[in-house]
Order: sequence, then structure tokens, then C-alpha cells
Amino acid sequence: QEQNRELRVRLEQLKKERNAIILAHYYQRDEIQEVADFRGDSFLLAQKAAETEADVIVFCGVHFMGESAKILAPNKTVLIPDERAGCPMADMVNVDGLRKLKAQHPNAKVVTYINSSAEIKAETDICCTSANAVKVIESLDAEEIIWVPDKNLGQYVQDQTGKKMIIWEGYCNTHDMLTVKDVMEMKAKYPEAEFVVHPECRPEVVAMGDYVGSTTSILEYCRKSDRRQFIVGTEDGTGYQLRLDSPDKEFHFATKFLVCPNMKVNNLKKLVKCLETMKPQIYVPPAVADKARTSLERMLQVR
Ligand code: 13P
Ligand code: SF4
Repeated sequence: QEQNRELRVRLEQLKKERNAIILAHYYQRDEIQEVADFRGDSFLLAQKAAETEADVIVFCGVHFMGESAKILAPNKTVLIPDERAGCPMADMVNVDGLRKLKAQHPNAKVVTYINSSAEIKAETDICCTSANAVKVIESLDAEEIIWVPDKNLGQYVQDQTGKKMIIWEGYCNTHDMLTVKDVMEMKAKYPEAEFVVHPECRPEVVAMGDYVGSTTSILEYCRKSDRRQFIVGTEDGTGYQLRLDSPDKEFHFATKFLVCPNMKVNNLKKLVKCLETMKPQIYVPPAVADKARTSLERMLQVR
């Protein structure tokens, strides 16, 4: 506790010295969310990165999020507390594979979930996050859509929009672990609870949801709902904001395995250290960034 207090004081000093802003994804450890200037889901944080006046963006999330910030704000320094914080789903699609698919479907538009590398975004027509995926697909005038890399979100969006989509086989190790059996057991234990679920979960689990949505929309739904009890089908870190918003409601995570180990690689100590040393910094080769930027900016324009 005492150490954390000292770290927080040092962090405030460094933030002023460097003119830095701290962005934290809702899946970060509480000790990071507590000190963030903005907490958010992938969409909100990308927007904040694109708009900020600060010189330095410290992105507390996983690597692709830092990359997206750097692409959208190329003149800023983007730091991440630990560069080993990757996203296994982002690594499930490679440029060669995507190019092959594009060659097989020359008229298809490529829609890429923001959970992907800069190189993949550079091969993309438009990006999306879980918050705007349906809107992005509906905004496109295309017969065929290539969708990478999340098969679960892809399936959900296809069901919602009725569009013809060629779906890549990637998935989120954390959300994909939640099973129908887990949810049935929780529903038996908490019969009064509503089940809220992220569309990165398996389709059969998503189908059990009383509410399906991105991290931010789950938060909003729980805040506004009259129900007192919830079974939560998304990453454990979300509990911080859920409890802050509604201290009198009960939130039960659907399994104890809904923890993304990559998100938890960051901690307060590493956050302070990266601002102290100004390392590690995100670097995206300018040629790649320029191509990838178009796909991210198109996403930010969809309303
Ligand atoms: P959102 O932030 O869009 O809810 O995505 C969830 C996720 O898994 C981020 O890595
Ligand atoms: Fe990637 Fe899933 Fe972790 Fe998000 S929660 S960073 S999609 S592994």
C-alpha cells in the first residue's frame, strides 16, 4: 500500500514533466485503472489517442492498442508498460494468409477487428471494434466481406446483419474458454441474475445472453438495468468499473478463468518505470502506418 502510494505520487510528477496522458483498457489491473486519465474499451481509447493534446500517450492495454494509438497519433510518443503484453488473437492472422484470401475474393471488402497487427490493418479497407462492428458492416456497400481475425465476433455480426462474410478462424483465448455448462451452472446458482456477455465468446454462449455487447455497452447496460444481480461473461478487469458504477449491485463473473494474462502483464510499477525511462516505445514503420491509418480513420467516421 505504502509502495503504491509512493508510486502514485511519482506518477503524477512524471505525467506533468512529460505532458503525458494515461489510457487504460477496462481489462487492466485495478491499480492501473485507478490512476488512468481515461478508462475505456478499444474504441473509446483509440478515439482518445486520436484526439489528445498531450505529447506522450501511455497505453495500458495490449500491444495492438498501443500500435493503433501510434498510427492515429504519429507525432506523439506512445509508451506501453511492458511490450510483452500481446494479444494471441491478433497473432492468429498473418499477412500472407490474408493476401491469399483477398486474391481468391477480389471483390470482397476487408473488415479487420482492431485486435490485429499494423501490417494486417495496412491490408484492410476498414477496421472495427466490438462496439461498432455491426455498424461498420452495415456501412459497407459490398457483396462479400472478408472478416479477420475473430470467428466468434464475426459469427455474431453475420447473424445480426445477414451479410455474406468469409470468416477467419481466430479467437480470444480468454473469452472463448467460457462454455454453455459454465453459464448454466451460474444461472442455476443465481436464478435472479441477468447474463451479460461479450461477443468474443462462443456463439452458443452468446445465444444465452440476456444482453450482448462490447465492454462499454455491457457497463452501460448494467448501470441502467433495474436488476440487482449479474453474471458477467467478459474479462475480470471489467469488475472495477462495474462496481464503481453500481456499488449496490452484485457482479458474478461466469468463471474464474475470464482473466486475460496479457492484460495483466502490466502493473503500476511498470507504468511508472516506462514514463521514467520513456521506454518501451511503440514504433510502426511509417509506410505501414500510413496504409493502416486509412482503415482506422474510416472506422472512427462510422456513426
Ligand atoms: P472491447 O474493448 O472492444 O470490448 O474488446 C475486448 C477485448 O478483448 C480487447 O482486447
Ligand atoms: Fe486479446 Fe482476448 Fe486478451 Fe483481448 S482479452 S487482449 S482479445 S486475448
